[in-house]
Amino acid sequence: MGNVAVIGSQWGDEGKGKIVDWLSSRADIVVRFQGGHNAGHTLVIDGVTYKLHLLPSGVVRKGKLAIIGNGVVIDPWALLKEIEDVRAQGVDVSPANLMIAENANMILPIHSAIDKAFEAARGSKSIGTTGRGIGPAYEDKVARRGIRICDLAHETLLKEKIENLLLHHNALLKGLGAETVSPQAVYDGLMQISGTILQYASPVWKRLDAANKSGEKVLFEGAQGAMLDVDHGTYPYVTSSNTVAGQAASGSGVGPRSVGYVLGITKAYTTRVGSGPFPTELLDADGELLGSRGHEFGTTTGRKRRCGWFDAALVRQTTKISGIHGIALTKLDVLDAFKEIKICTGYELDGQIVDHLPASQLHQANLKPVYEVIEGWNQSTRGARSWADLPATAIKYVRRIEELVETPVTLLSTSPERDDTILMQDPFLAA
Ligand code: IMP
Repeated sequence: MGNVAVIGSQWGDEGKGKIVDWLSSRADIVVRFQGGHNAGHTLVIDGVTYKLHLLPSGVVRKGKLAIIGNGVVIDPWALLKEIEDVRAQGVDVSPANLMIAENANMILPIHSAIDKAFEAARGSKSIGTTGRGIGPAYEDKVARRGIRICDLAHETLLKEKIENLLLHHNALLKGLGAETVSPQAVYDGLMQISGTILQYASPVWKRLDAANKSGEKVLFEGAQGAMLDVDHGTYPYVTSSNTVAGQAASGSGVGPRSVGYVLGITKAYTTRVGSGPFPTELLDADGELLGSRGHEFGTTTGRKRRCGWFDAALVRQTTKISGIHGIALTKLDVLDAFKEIKICTGYELDGQIVDHLPASQLHQANLKPVYEVIEGWNQSTRGARSWADLPATAIKYVRRIEELVETPVTLLSTSPERDDTILMQDPFLAA
């Protein structure tokens, strides 16, 4: 048995929570490897709802080790608040079941302030970020002026690093006519939490190497979706991390072979939050119906999600980019109310048919979806637990998705309930 990586194959919010929870019950270790507290995963376990942003899903399950890898940007205050929140729900969190990579970069209050200020300045061209400081923190990381978890242990070095960081940011703030930030205030803030945070810090790559040797099963828990990937997504309307499966290796400190089976979580239709191209978006009653039936509101920001038909060209692309072995198709039941359902098979661009999402922002904005119409099934699939429970037309829809995306559907989720799942292949056994 090998490891499994779970990746969103659209623009996030594909319903990873339920599937990650089921898989984490079978794993020994659950690792986050990118993003930060911009993510939102809702887990319902034994009737209790947990809303997680930064903590890996495994943390709420007894006997599992949760790891926040180096590819994640960690807001230490958000992390401590989340730990307190789950503790209040009766979950034990201690260094025995939570490790954070000592080489992970931190999100500081200045990062969320900059994130919000730049979004406001972009006006109608805003990206629609979550305002959590994700982009500015990754910028500092790549510019080699970021402050990492391990720096909290060295007070003099920390002071120097803060000075260096603010040299950059205060120059910018001055230029914008905004108030500058005092290095002492940043230092004092960090010193208040450093002891608590450092308890969890460790070279997690070593722990993962030990897991590899002993055969412990690791679940790599992706956040957001492949179309929000900073390289492969709808740039610049993306998040600032790599969200594809390849990042599971570099964002946690394992080799690519250790990533194992890649499960692509895929919604039976499409949604996105924030700005940016969305060729199959529906601005009509059908879009409203998808949103209301699918309860399409963000877990982190509460924003209404944009909704549209399934885009097979887009998922075919992300399946290739992430090396997805199998698709977990979610929320099929949301389509129960439609007489006919459309699937986008490609796009029309300047009179030509294209079978993939071109990289150019201008091209992406001008794509017209080419649709194939499929007969709806007009009956409930909610709660189906076997193929025999599904109407033939619903099976046809799933089969057509498999053909167009060139990847098998190995898991079908038919309601938020854990048992309402049709499993064709166990990812851990297939890894
Ligand atoms: P950021 O990650 O806050 O910088 O936001 C950049 C883009 O990614 C925005 O369009 C956000 O709405 C989107 N985004 C970030 N995190 C998530 C998520 O967990 N689900 C869906 N969209 C997300």
